[in-house]
Amino acid sequence: MTQPSTTADLVALGQQRYLPVYRPRQVILERGQGARLWDRDGREYIDFSAGIAVCGLGHGDPDLVAALAEQAGKLWHTSNVFYSEPPLRLAEELAAASRFASRVFLCNSGAEANEAAIKLIRKWATAQGREPSRRVIVTFRGSFHGRTLAAVTATAQPKYQAGYEPLPGGFRYVDFNDATALEIAMACGDVAAVLVEPVQGEGGVMPAEPGFLRSVRELCDHHGALLALDEIQSGMGRTGTLFAHWQDQVTPDIVTLAKALGGGFPIGALLAGPKVAEAMQFGDHGTTFGGNPLAAAVARVALRKLASSETMANVTRQAAALRAGLDALDGNLDLFSGVRGRGLMLGAVLKPEHAGRVGELLDLAAENGLLLLQAGPDVLRFVPPLNISDAEVSEGLERLRQALARA
Ligand SMILES: Cc1ncc(COP(=O)(O)O)c(C=O)c1O
Repeated sequence: MTQPSTTADLVALGQQRYLPVYRPRQVILERGQGARLWDRDGREYIDFSAGIAVCGLGHGDPDLVAALAEQAGKLWHTSNVFYSEPPLRLAEELAAASRFASRVFLCNSGAEANEAAIKLIRKWATAQGREPSRRVIVTFRGSFHGRTLAAVTATAQPKYQAGYEPLPGGFRYVDFNDATALEIAMACGDVAAVLVEPVQGEGGVMPAEPGFLRSVRELCDHHGALLALDEIQSGMGRTGTLFAHWQDQVTPDIVTLAKALGGGFPIGALLAGPKVAEAMQFGDHGTTFGGNPLAAAVARVALRKLASSETMANVTRQAAALRAGLDALDGNLDLFSGVRGRGLMLGAVLKPEHAGRVGELLDLAAENGLLLLQAGPDVLRFVPPLNISDAEVSEGLERLRQALARA
């Protein structure tokens, strides 16, 4: 077989060799700098997708590159049968930054962090003397918690579960932002935990309404249940504070992180508060690559930079610019029924007459040099790097205006 040489050849290779679970845009990205990317044909893109809310510091951040290169020259991997310094320090820094966690479990992805959270909840409930039928975990319709079997069962969206039955038991689903429905779902005392995203991401960029997470916390306290927050997408500064739940004034028992934690290097983490931190003991859980020194060295720098007041101020500034720009361009185009979200996690909701057209609009945007995401069939999702500049936001909006004008 001849070596593939053109973009079309490489796309065909992907279509032939990858398990066809994705349908990528037909470009081959080659390099990035800040909020810009270039494909192998030299075309330039503004990146409002950040690798699905991962590259919080954009592409090629020099401090992340330096941390990775320095660690790569020292030690790549030990596994958890030995200590090394980067993950030890990262665990300490995450616990301190979280303001609640006393222990940390490092892993490799969001699904793996949520899987660990589900297992931790079950172990904790077992230690409470609860029989299996009283170890129920409540999650919310429209949520997304990952693709492993337990995480996809926690994900209360039938489209992600269909065909994978039998699913693990012990999950119950409630409407998001409906405290009364949650109260009813917890009434018989069999709920061990509530797992919730402060801002639903994949499910349509839907923020928790003011006061909702406080009601969830109160119900958990009333019923002796844990509050677990999935901050995999909303965390690491994306909403304008290091953790989105700080804006909701709740203290969780568990927080899961991944995505931007490694700035693009795969890593996940579970943060456990004092109530639950001792529930798993030696031999109860594990993962070969968790706490990998390369990932941890990069994540330490990402955490420091993402938590900085400079980054947080930029999120507030650019979120306002992006919202204002989306409102202004829609004033002429009349495509959106609204823009929602928090910080730089924004969704533009298509009007009912344009329902189902998101894929087509993403293609038009990419043709116009703008990379965007969808969140469900009707929402354009904007999750740019948190250090994006004024000029990049306005250029991205202009490219979007041109793309949508062709729709
Ligand atoms: C809120 C949330 N939880 C969990 C996940 C799963 O993370 P991963 O794809 O790293 O397994 C995602 C991914 O989109 C997410 O947005």
